[in-house]
Amino acid sequence: MKQRKLSFWQRLSYFFHPAVNTEEVVFSPDRRIQFKFILKQGHVSYSVLKDNKILVKESRLGISIKNDVPFGERLTLVRTRARSFDENWETVWGEERVIRNKYNEKIFYLEENSGKKRLITIKIRIFDDGVAFRYEIPPQPSFSRIVIDDELTEFNLDHSGDVWEIPAYQPDRYEYNYERRKVFELENSVHTPLTVHSPHGYYLSIHEAALYDYGEMTLKLNEWKVLYSDITPLSDGAKAYVELPFSTPWRVIMIADSAISLVKNHMILNLNDPPRSDFSWVKPMKFMGIWWAMYVGEWTWAPGERHGATTEHMIEYLKSCKSLGLDGVLAEGWNNGWEGDWLQNGAFTDFSTPTKDFDIKRIANFAKVNGLDLVGHNETVGFIDNYENQLDEAYKFYSENDVNYVKTGYAGSMMTIHGNREWHHSQLGVRHYQKSVEIAAKYHICIDMHEPIKGTGIERTFPNLLTREGARGQEYEGGSLLPSHATILPFTRLLSGGMDYTSGIFDLTNSVKRVYTTLARQLAYFVVIPSGMQMVADRPRFYEIEKPDAYKFIRDVPVNWETTLPIMGEIGEYYVVARKGRGTEEWFIGGVTNEKERKLKFSLSFLDDGDYIAEAYLDAENAHYRDNPLAMQIKKWGVTRNTNLDIFVAEGGGFAIRIYKKA
Ligand code: NOJ
Ligand code: CA
Repeated sequence: MKQRKLSFWQRLSYFFHPAVNTEEVVFSPDRRIQFKFILKQGHVSYSVLKDNKILVKESRLGISIKNDVPFGERLTLVRTRARSFDENWETVWGEERVIRNKYNEKIFYLEENSGKKRLITIKIRIFDDGVAFRYEIPPQPSFSRIVIDDELTEFNLDHSGDVWEIPAYQPDRYEYNYERRKVFELENSVHTPLTVHSPHGYYLSIHEAALYDYGEMTLKLNEWKVLYSDITPLSDGAKAYVELPFSTPWRVIMIADSAISLVKNHMILNLNDPPRSDFSWVKPMKFMGIWWAMYVGEWTWAPGERHGATTEHMIEYLKSCKSLGLDGVLAEGWNNGWEGDWLQNGAFTDFSTPTKDFDIKRIANFAKVNGLDLVGHNETVGFIDNYENQLDEAYKFYSENDVNYVKTGYAGSMMTIHGNREWHHSQLGVRHYQKSVEIAAKYHICIDMHEPIKGTGIERTFPNLLTREGARGQEYEGGSLLPSHATILPFTRLLSGGMDYTSGIFDLTNSVKRVYTTLARQLAYFVVIPSGMQMVADRPRFYEIEKPDAYKFIRDVPVNWETTLPIMGEIGEYYVVARKGRGTEEWFIGGVTNEKERKLKFSLSFLDDGDYIAEAYLDAENAHYRDNPLAMQIKKWGVTRNTNLDIFVAEGGGFAIRIYKKA
């Protein structure tokens, strides 16, 4: 960080080149939120208020450039431009069919008043549910490239606010349990979305939108104990190499009156561009996979006696997939590269050569004849050099073999890019993830990204990016997932987009990999955790033979929604959400609790008039996530929009309800 105080020479320079001081306020359309843009002695800063209460105190803006003075210290305002915007746009898939994008925008064109007289623009957008701003560096007369040393954006929050954080720069990327702390207790960099409960009672979440060709923004307390944008560095220490013109990602502060109203914030998608080509070929889907059998030790990724991804197993899974009403099957361990310790194989993994016992033509033909899809798998172990050499050819090979979905994986704590060890969330990592999505789009392939870059809404522009992991998911079960985790995700990670949580594990007493939830909660996940590709993660026999009654909910639940209605929730305690299936009249409600049992009371007033049937999958009174996970009751009864529900959820439990019109 550069010093915030002005040096003697800087003061002297302002004495000779006095900057214009100005303060301009931009309001949200409903006028409850104010963004103050402040220019004082050449320095730019901002503050944010809601209902006249200060939520973000005066916070510095600026960018530090290698071998130059920082942008943001000797600026004059050249001109401004303001406009209001309001539109409804239709999503290709997702939690809402139609999203409203309504904001007031103001653009501040700034120029340095001395030295190279560089130009910088700060663009702000104020929505009814938050503020966003970005830096735009236009082409300059004397140079066209810059090396960004740091971004100096601050988020000066009240220190006594609570935050739910996961640490950045850690070996398991975003895959951590959330910790609740006070703002002033943050010791190291943390990932965004960083959700904050402010002492005024508002809920804020700091995140970014449209992250392209730039290091991810993590947040850290600086030497003045103010949160600032700690941009992920490259291996040489630079934060980003950029060609002008360049825009940083949007810096976003979502603002809500309650935790539950934070969930329905669409700023991140709204701040991304519409698709530039036709993506009507993208189809969200539910899939099962040659997957959990490996986690519970029945099969292996590597070839051998217990090899999972064989032709025989694939055909068997495809048959089950068809009878279970699912859309496709994932194969992990189908290609050369899993022998021995696969984590060491990244430099030579082959992404288009199947193992000898995996007859891709026969499998593809069987899938096609039965109207099913195949989900390929690319475990790169972060060896980007090896993967990018094959990317185009491999995706072409998949599309020729009717593999129209690919799950990618980047296991390992760092990536190898141009021979260097780089963070997944560095500029080079971000660039790679983008390349994979764009090449996939060229071949009409949809992506489910594991060990991904965090979501910043680019799926609005590239809807073939159907889902990603990017948080601790069910593969961590076996005691490493706290029951509170799924009650925190909707207010934190899921504000950045959907997640492949790998839901639907029914084998809840397995001694090799014990999953600590109730059965009803596994069903709830299909509503609680949205995902354009929803994995139905257990082995077919658990759905076909062991629990066909419980499976019915998974068969019925859609992945694509008309609308979403978060009903109730407190971060880390409980969460209930209702969603209406896209193009249907059916509603689905999912709820989860932490380690406490409770009664969840809510009304069905969101239903239209008329009679409905509720089909509910509920924790039994004696259910418990450790001691009695399978105790579930299925109940069916008549409801209307006047019905009030009072649902019991067991410790570590949940519930799922389907509501459909009475014939
Ligand atoms: C981690 C992924 O999250 C998981 O789903 C996958 O099975 C393993 N890597 C192996 O690639
Ligand atoms: Ca993972």
